[in-house]
Amino acid sequence: MSFDPFREKGGRVSAYENWKQLYPRAYDKHATDPKTKMRVILMNGTEFESQWFLHNMARHVCDNDLRRELAAVRRAEQQEQKKISYLKPRDETILETTIAYEQLAVELTALMARCEKDTTVRRALDFALLEDFDHLYRYADLLEMECGVRAETLVGKKTEIMPGRPTVSEHRDPPDDIKKPLPKNAPLLSKLHTMIITAAEQQTMNFYMNCGAFYDVSDLGRKLFLEIGMIEEQHVSLYESLQDASTTWLECWLMHEYTECYLYYSMLAEETDEKIKAIWSDHLEREIGHLHVAARMLEKYEHKHYSQVIADGTFPELISFSAAEGGNMEYIRKVLRNTVELTADREGYTNISDVPESSEFFRYNRRVNGAVANVASHGVIDRYIAEAGEDYRFQTGAHPVSQLRDRTCDNTELGRTKPDGGSKPEKRGSRKN
Ligand SMILES: [Fe+2]
Ligand SMILES: [Fe+2]
Ligand SMILES: [Fe+2]
Ligand SMILES: [Fe+2]
Repeated sequence: MSFDPFREKGGRVSAYENWKQLYPRAYDKHATDPKTKMRVILMNGTEFESQWFLHNMARHVCDNDLRRELAAVRRAEQQEQKKISYLKPRDETILETTIAYEQLAVELTALMARCEKDTTVRRALDFALLEDFDHLYRYADLLEMECGVRAETLVGKKTEIMPGRPTVSEHRDPPDDIKKPLPKNAPLLSKLHTMIITAAEQQTMNFYMNCGAFYDVSDLGRKLFLEIGMIEEQHVSLYESLQDASTTWLECWLMHEYTECYLYYSMLAEETDEKIKAIWSDHLEREIGHLHVAARMLEKYEHKHYSQVIADGTFPELISFSAAEGGNMEYIRKVLRNTVELTADREGYTNISDVPESSEFFRYNRRVNGAVANVASHGVIDRYIAEAGEDYRFQTGAHPVSQLRDRTCDNTELGRTKPDGGSKPEKRGSRKN
């Protein structure tokens, strides 16, 4: 059924909620569908992005009438963010929440890549997919080792847990994150994908920025958050570089509100938790209200009709975690098989064996990693193997990459050193950590 939020009547921006309304009943971490947890994280990240975008916009406009409009909508975004954020229950630990963050990164990235028409965007999604996939595995091993929780129960056995592009290989020179932006006439779905994945990765980046140091079980765990947090900075840089950067502030505001409408409508279409479904429904109505305000402001200050930014407001195909469930696993296995050895190389991607010895990748990677034995993402697996004899995984079949099948030795060279040994910086780590 087609839905165009520009043609709907939205709620009033000023319909703010009181403290009681803002504090929802949290989900049950044992009983709630992992897909609901992913939707909560995604919408939390979306609200953060909207909120923060509106703050930045307010710092770049002079007209106080416009700044008052921004303040009103921004307060509403903040309320929405708060309500979603407190759906997380008190008894869910940082590491358990982290598993849901990385599961979301994996599942969302895969489902978008599968229907992405723009080659540059699809390649970026495929590329970072294998990295978040590896993060899930490293955190899952830490969780089992230090807390005795098997992450397969948290992800509902819907996402495989096994190595991807090894995290130690993901540390790259900053300019290699920057790709070509989408053109103004790019498909609406591609524009939505770049905005949504940027917000989701930014949410993960912020979560690690703020919560990593609060992991109180071990220094090794804190170091893992620190290391993976740096990769999320790379992912945000990668994804934001893809966005259509030709928009004015007001056009970009319109796109933000439209994206929120699209996401709430998508979440509402498949939510199984009735209480949370009511939140998505309420927020959709509010977002349609925001969208109309943004469209009015665009007319008032730039004399542009919204259709000059979004020609046809009818939603393209919706985001669906349920629909993706069938095909994501196979898709991820295919991407692993075909692209695990790629590294980012300025605006493209190159197989590590073809990267010149003089490349900045090797310089940066060696500099930040130092001795591989001291790299936390390796240390977690190394220690797990030392204690248990083999790593913790959840696989539905043999690993699609032969070099990543050995469960008794963490591969720290794949995607980082040339197979001919030409740039081997370190011997594989000893069990030091
Ligand atoms: Fe919002
Ligand atoms: Fe990640
Ligand atoms: Fe990521
Ligand atoms: Fe909004």
